[in-house]
Amino acid sequence: MCLDFNCYKEGKRYSECMRGVLLAGGTGSRLWPITRAVSKQLMPVFDKPMIYYPLSTLVSAGIPDILIITTGEEQAQFRRLLGDGRQWGLRLSYAVQARPEGIAQAFLIANEFLAGGPAALILGDNIFHGAQLGARLRGHRDLDGGLVFAYPVADPSAYGVVDFDGDGVVRSIEEKPSAPRSRYAVPGLYFYDGDVVKIAGSLRPSTRGELEITSVNEEYLRRGRLRVEVLDRSTAWLDTGTFDSLVAASEYVRVIEQRQGFKIGCVEEAAWRAGLISEDQLRELANPLRRSGYGDYLLRLLDWSQPVPAGSGSGDRP
Ligand code: G1P
Repeated sequence: MCLDFNCYKEGKRYSECMRGVLLAGGTGSRLWPITRAVSKQLMPVFDKPMIYYPLSTLVSAGIPDILIITTGEEQAQFRRLLGDGRQWGLRLSYAVQARPEGIAQAFLIANEFLAGGPAALILGDNIFHGAQLGARLRGHRDLDGGLVFAYPVADPSAYGVVDFDGDGVVRSIEEKPSAPRSRYAVPGLYFYDGDVVKIAGSLRPSTRGELEITSVNEEYLRRGRLRVEVLDRSTAWLDTGTFDSLVAASEYVRVIEQRQGFKIGCVEEAAWRAGLISEDQLRELANPLRRSGYGDYLLRLLDWSQPVPAGSGSGDRP
């Protein structure tokens, strides 16, 4: 039986439960020298480390069992920050990607952890924010095939790009095309069924020497088992891999948080809203964080026990 409360209720076996893989490896060379000594995914994005954002996305998607993949050198820092996740009602495990040999390699590293079950992969430098996003993602935990998203961006050539025909059927997915066939980039959040490890294992490295996630998607597409869902512009998708995009993401978070009074990417809040920790546990987490104001925010959440009007929150409670 699965240990996750929701799956337990649904009577799922452990191997049927979707597990999360958070890829936070890489050299961060596009941010050198600032990431020479500290992992990119530990850089601040306004008021919290970058990894909090993708981690809270998985938590609000209802996925508490997560493998965090980092470089060998940096794993200790991630452990110091996140621990085994118990404080947030999560089960965090760790694995090493020795060399940055591609996003799809994450599935080979996660083989044992996934135990043949479905997987949600999120990249450690991708930030998602939008109304009801968690609820929308929770709908994908019972998945047949693969599911990726498409998001319109001004310059798609830095990303995987998906192209649709006139009826909205996917025609192609290409990695960083110099002449993109559409404006739709594929964000770093991917859902796959239990076939993904085998598919990743059958790939050959691309010309840049990596096992490309786009090749995984192409294989699901070839089998007629890839769904692509458009994330419209009411959802914000930001990546944080360059000097400019890192500052832009911080600015975005600062402006929204200060205006709304709600935080983005707050793991404690996501865990509490998902029912993984109690009010008392949230209070306990808040106390040592009060000097920065972060803890006061967590305590304020408990005071705002009024129902949140539709469209304003990321979860089910209060
Ligand atoms: C990677 C993927 C690309 C995807 C992007 C999302 O790019 O290869 O398909 O669109 O993440 O952030 P990279 O981070 O390697 O530039």
